[in-house]
Amino acid sequence: MGFNKKDLIKVKEEFSEKYKKAQDASDARCRELWGKIDGLRMIDNELSLTGIRIMEAVMSKEKGSDTASKLEEIKNQNQTLLRERAALLRAYGYPEDYTDVHYECDKCCDSGYVDMKMCDCMKRALVLAGYESSGLSSLMKTQSFENFSLDYYRQSQKQYDGMKKAYEKIKNFAENFSSDTYENFLFFGRTGLGKTHLSTAVAKTVIDRYFDVLYVTANEMISVFEQKKFGSKINPNEEADTSRYYSADLLIIDDLGTEMSTPFSISCVYEIINARMIARKSTIISTNLGIDEIEKRYWERITSRLLGEYQPILFVGADIRGQKLSAKK
Ligand SMILES: Nc1ncnc2c1ncn2[C@@H]1O[C@H](COP(=O)(O)OP(=O)(O)OP(=O)(O)O)[C@@H](O)[C@H]1O
Ligand SMILES: [Mg+2]
Ligand SMILES: [Zn+2]
Repeated sequence: MGFNKKDLIKVKEEFSEKYKKAQDASDARCRELWGKIDGLRMIDNELSLTGIRIMEAVMSKEKGSDTASKLEEIKNQNQTLLRERAALLRAYGYPEDYTDVHYECDKCCDSGYVDMKMCDCMKRALVLAGYESSGLSSLMKTQSFENFSLDYYRQSQKQYDGMKKAYEKIKNFAENFSSDTYENFLFFGRTGLGKTHLSTAVAKTVIDRYFDVLYVTANEMISVFEQKKFGSKINPNEEADTSRYYSADLLIIDDLGTEMSTPFSISCVYEIINARMIARKSTIISTNLGIDEIEKRYWERITSRLLGEYQPILFVGADIRGQKLSAKK
């Protein structure tokens, strides 16, 4: 599992708030009934002493007293009190569990953990936080493997076969993503052919497998590096954070080649590609540039890494935005 740290902190805070809220609501219901039901407060006070009584019984063991029978007595007293309490509540028209703490998750009582293992409910919350912090949450609503149709590539059999192979390869990569996975892909092809769509589908699938995925356009990534180096023009107090470009289990850099080409921007791209390669962390890069344009634009060191370490996935066919528009007409 590779949830990102910020999400983990945020979700844990949410859980402790949720836990406290459930406790507070139960306390409030108790206080409400104490004002309405005679004798209830006394029973609750008695019940709250149970823990201390058990302690006393256990501690007095050395003095030779019979601990087992004392504990049995406390248990019986407790059960009698609980029965009386339930009867009182019923008599006043309240359900017996009216003052119980109502947790959202009965398995972990909103603690997020069961037997030291993370509860499914917390994993789910982290997945949702992961969608949100991936940068792709809005696209995920409409772009998935399920609605990625190969029918748009039927202009020629060769093209269709190529796209089918690419789709299957990428789906397989996403569905089997694990902490040992290290594969890099270079999605290239003209505009509107499904590069971002397929990236989004990968992101969702990998987040569903509890890994940290970050999507960023090359432009955004470079501006964050610029902010870090030169300070933010918009908010000088804002700390630019590039750490997730390195730490994410999967980084998706979209639209490489649309950023302004400067020695600084090229060195940022080089830095990330190289650092992730050394750390053996998977990266997907999308671009509209052709191989020769990549070679022209970036340093030879980047080009040789991209072409050597990244599996090329060529997107071909006719602009799907256009195909969808003409289908509507
Ligand atoms: N195979 C597909 N099946 C269904 N819809 C698709 C498919 N490929 C792309 N689309 C849809 O077509 C539109 C354009 O696709 P997408 O944004 O993925 O293209 P792109 O290759 O990233 O283009 P660009 O280079 O301009 O960024 C999106 O709305 C996307 O959901
Ligand atoms: Mg795109
Ligand atoms: Zn739970």
